[in-house]
Order: sequence, then C-alpha cells, then structure tokens
Amino acid sequence: MQNQSKMPLVEQLDAHAQSCPISLHVPGHKGGAISPEVWQKCLKWDVTEITGMDDLHHAEEVILEAKLLLAECYGVKKSRFLVNGTSGGSLAVIMTTLRRGEKVLIPRDAHKSILHGIELAGGEPIFLTPQLHQEIGTSNGVTPELVTEALHNHPEVKLCIFTYPSYYGTTFNLQKCIQIAHQFGVIVFVDEAHGAHFLTSSEFPKSAVDLGADIVVQSAHKTLPALTMGSYLHIVHDLPIFDKLDYYLQVFQSSSPSYLIMASLDAARKYVATYSDADIEAFWKMRAKWLKWLTKNKFELILPDDPLKIIVRKPGYTGYELQEIFEANSYFPELADEKQLLLILPLIKKGMDFTPINRIYSPERKAVATLPYEEGEPGTSKLALAYEKMHDHPTDFVLLDDAIGLISAETISLYPPGIPTIIRGERLTEKHLPELTNLQKHHYQGGEKLATNYIRVFR
Ligand SMILES: Cc1ncc(COP(=O)(O)O)c(C=O)c1O
Repeated sequence: MQNQSKMPLVEQLDAHAQSCPISLHVPGHKGGAISPEVWQKCLKWDVTEITGMDDLHHAEEVILEAKLLLAECYGVKKSRFLVNGTSGGSLAVIMTTLRRGEKVLIPRDAHKSILHGIELAGGEPIFLTPQLHQEIGTSNGVTPELVTEALHNHPEVKLCIFTYPSYYGTTFNLQKCIQIAHQFGVIVFVDEAHGAHFLTSSEFPKSAVDLGADIVVQSAHKTLPALTMGSYLHIVHDLPIFDKLDYYLQVFQSSSPSYLIMASLDAARKYVATYSDADIEAFWKMRAKWLKWLTKNKFELILPDDPLKIIVRKPGYTGYELQEIFEANSYFPELADEKQLLLILPLIKKGMDFTPINRIYSPERKAVATLPYEEGEPGTSKLALAYEKMHDHPTDFVLLDDAIGLISAETISLYPPGIPTIIRGERLTEKHLPELTNLQKHHYQGGEKLATNYIRVFR
C-alpha cells in the first residue's frame, strides 16, 4: 500500500513555486506575473455550462461574443478557442481537410501532433527536408524551391502544412511557400504554435495569418498570458471544406471545456488587442536589460527572428551543462540541447517588470572544436509502410544495433521540442542510431524500451 496522503505533483509544484523560480519558459503568463488581475480570481471561475456561461461546442452567447472579438482582433473570418492545445486543433484541421489515402506535404520536422493527425486521417505524408539554420544548427523551415519541386512531382497533394516559426524562433520565406501551394490549388494549414504574439507589433515577424495561410493554429499559452492548453484557431479564408471543422473540434476536445482556460484566452485576446507602442517600447527595454545581463555574466548570445527568444551559449559548455547552472540559480530555461539554451522572455506591457536578479557565475573553459552542422540533402521522403497497413501489422522489439533497415513501429521524440527523431512507419537507417542513442541521455516521449536499447519495429 502506498502512502495515500502524498500528493507528489502538488508537492513538487508547491516546492517549485516556493523557490521563487524565474520563468524563461512557456507558459507566457510566467507564473501569473503577466496580467496578475486575471490569475487572482482563478478558482472561482472554474464553473461549467450553467445559465449565462454559454457552451464552447454550441456557442450563442458570451463565448460567441468572445470568439467574434478574437476573429476581429486577428483580422480573420472566424476564430475558435481551443482547450486541448494546438495539438487538438491540428488534429481537427487535418481530419477536416484530408481524406483517407490523400497526400499531404509536411516538413520532416513537424510536431508529433501533425503526424498523429495524418495517421488518424489515413493520409499519405510526403516529407520535405527542412533547411538548417547555419548559426543555431537546428532546422529552419523549407525552401520555396523544394515546395515547388514536391508539388510538381506530387500534383495530387491536397494539403500543405508548414511549421512557422520554429521552436527556436527562426523564420523562413513562408509567404512564397504559401503562394506556390495556392498556385497548385492546395489548401495551406500553418502550425504557428510559437507565434500567437506576432500580431501585437509590426516589430515582430509577420504572422502566418498575414502571409496568406488558409487556416492557422497558435498556442496562445506559449507566448501570451494564457493558461497551458489554451490555443487559438483562425480560419483566414472561409473555404467550404472548413464546414466540418466544428464537428471535429467536438471530437478532439472535452465535452467539459475548462472555463479557466477559456477565460484566460479571452483575457489574452484583450492583451493582444490593446498592445500599444508604449508596451512594445517597454518590452524592448526589458529585453535589452536581459541581453546586457547575460553578456555581463559572460554568456554568448544568438538572437533569432522572434525577439521573445534568446539562445545562450558558452565555449566549452553543452546546453545541458548551462541548464544546470541556470537552474541552480533559479532561472528556468525553456530547453537545452547539445550546443545551447533557449530562453523565452515574456511579452510584457508598460508598467510591468521582469528583470534578472542575481548574478550567474560559470568558470571560463577552453572552447572545444566542434564539427560543422550537417545539412540533410534537400528532397522529399515517404513512410516505408502506409498508415492503413500499420494497424494490424505484427511488431517485435529488436536491439537498436539490429534495427537498421527495418521499419520503426514507434514515434520517438526528444521532448521538448516534440519533433520526432524516428516516425512510426519510417525505415531506420545508419543515421538514426547515434540520434536514438543520444536520446537515451535526455527526456524523450515514445520509445517504450529505448532505455534498454530496444526499439519496436514492424515484423
Ligand atoms: C511546433 C509545435 N506545434 C505544436 C505544438 C503543440 O502545441 P500544444 O502544446 O499547444 O498542444 C508544439 C508544442 O510544443 C510545437 O512546438
């Protein structure tokens, strides 16, 4: 019998909160520091569909009004609140727009939720090799040339999905990619999970909404002051095929949507709608303080296109070692990788403060020579086994070393960012082995027996 008086999650959350952590990660409300007036009242707002509270799945009153305000704020035809994150929205969009056996163009570095959607719809993914960001060494969108080539080779593609911006805050020529897809008559869905704040100022990169996408999902919770799982869906072009969207939103979201999440989405919309020139000025000042402080603490910085994000490095240190140093000083980054740390600043307004406090000390080390980043051959790839054949196909566990040439029956992703290292249905090659071995040292999702060097493959 275990100790039933324990509340491990509650206790850990409480201890973390008591330690006065500095949040340089999502969610964008930064532990309630942004828009505190919303958070103080929280529990009293946790109600259900009682009189006056409307119904997310059949909105006629206050939720309808809030959705109309959201659509106007983002300049789109229709908007929806999502209470199951961008993941739930992506599942609904893909099920709405893709039929069994139809082809869909996606970047190979898509979030796993996109792959789950295509699997459920029974679509056939055509993967585009992403370009590499030369400085950061992470993937950075796709080229218009590759989109053109892929659509020439696969004219029957029904849907193009792009991820914009990347987790690390980099952008690419999305506008051109969308124009090309439209020239081929293909619907464009953009996973803008990390870009809900782009509309707040012309000093941020342009949003996919403005760059011509047909339908867009955004994790409001990642960069705006909204609760985790709170996301937005925007129908930019009201195509007849989107008529089924509300049906699928009901399928993939709870029949008891959280009023707390919905209220935070309503408040975050107001936050965006009222974001002023004075606010962006306050944001730049706050950001300048962080850049100065990081430099003073002897870190090297890379500044991607999204000013909310800062990439931190130090010669001789891996990102994981830097993460430990930051966390020991109560600064909690969004993520670490081999080379660097990713910090996410809050989208503050005038009158708010978010300043670094104590100094971080890390001894100087000699720089270690590193290999240049390896760019994948630009091109397309496919699954080795179609989704429809996977369901009843027998599987076995094999040792990683014996898995080359076999087809993976698992999707395994480093988390965060949730981009699969291997996708269910993909053939394992030499290149996957060191990547999967490396995952064992970090936090990953999928990979039932990866810790003991086994992977599930299709027989
Ligand atoms: C690019 C991308 N898309 C989608 C998602 C899923 O978003 P959510 O957590 O809102 O479901 C994430 C989450 O990290 C992401 O990075």
